[in-house]
Amino acid sequence: MKPDSFIIVAIDGGAASGKSSTARALSERLGLMHVNTGAHYRTLTHALLKAGADPACPDTIPSLLESLTVETRLQGASAQLAVNDCIPKDSEIRSPEVNAAVSLIAAIPQVREFLFQYQRNQAQLARQENYPGLVMEGRDIGSVIFPDADFCFFLHVDAATRAARRAKEGLTDSIAERDKLDSSRKTAPLKCPKHAVKVNTGPHSLKAVVDLICEHIDSSHD
Ligand code: DC
Repeated sequence: MKPDSFIIVAIDGGAASGKSSTARALSERLGLMHVNTGAHYRTLTHALLKAGADPACPDTIPSLLESLTVETRLQGASAQLAVNDCIPKDSEIRSPEVNAAVSLIAAIPQVREFLFQYQRNQAQLARQENYPGLVMEGRDIGSVIFPDADFCFFLHVDAATRAARRAKEGLTDSIAERDKLDSSRKTAPLKCPKHAVKVNTGPHSLKAVVDLICEHIDSSHD
């Protein structure tokens, strides 16, 4: 990779498709700043639930959003979203309550607008912090947030492997239900962008998936 060329790598995919492990490992391998936008939606959902939001009544959400402030805190190469000065624990943003509400909250257009510029600005932060690039994972990174990303990958895997991954993590999560909601919403649905490189993570080890992505980046980035 040329030292003077900043790259943006978009990694999208459904729940438990291997995005987070892959994005983290890629960040370590290439020294990129890492942003997990699923954690953004989870952190916002956690804050909104705490503020009394009812995910079944989307009309109440926009006014609650006005009471929230956002900023970024870097933990190593991982850029974390703080809402109202607070980064909730992993166990809080992966609780059954957040799992049940996050797709409903993420489907609200005002919620997506609230995060849009914040997420785009992460590229600027990565540059300011002298990272050679940014890897951002989510559902709409290659389609909406960075349609102009230098590299765009879409990870997928069969249902049985996904369920086994979550069970191994000891987490309760309705993966299929979230994917259905995420792909059928009107605003920024989960979909594979036409220009994305599709990667089936099921048959491969994490190292093999990262090798494959790096080979792709190296071969098209001279
Ligand atoms: O990546 P994850 O499973 O932790 O994401 C949690 C939820 O956040 C997911 O079900 C939908 C929403 N999300 C989204 O709508 N857009 C993104 N870019 C990332 C996540």
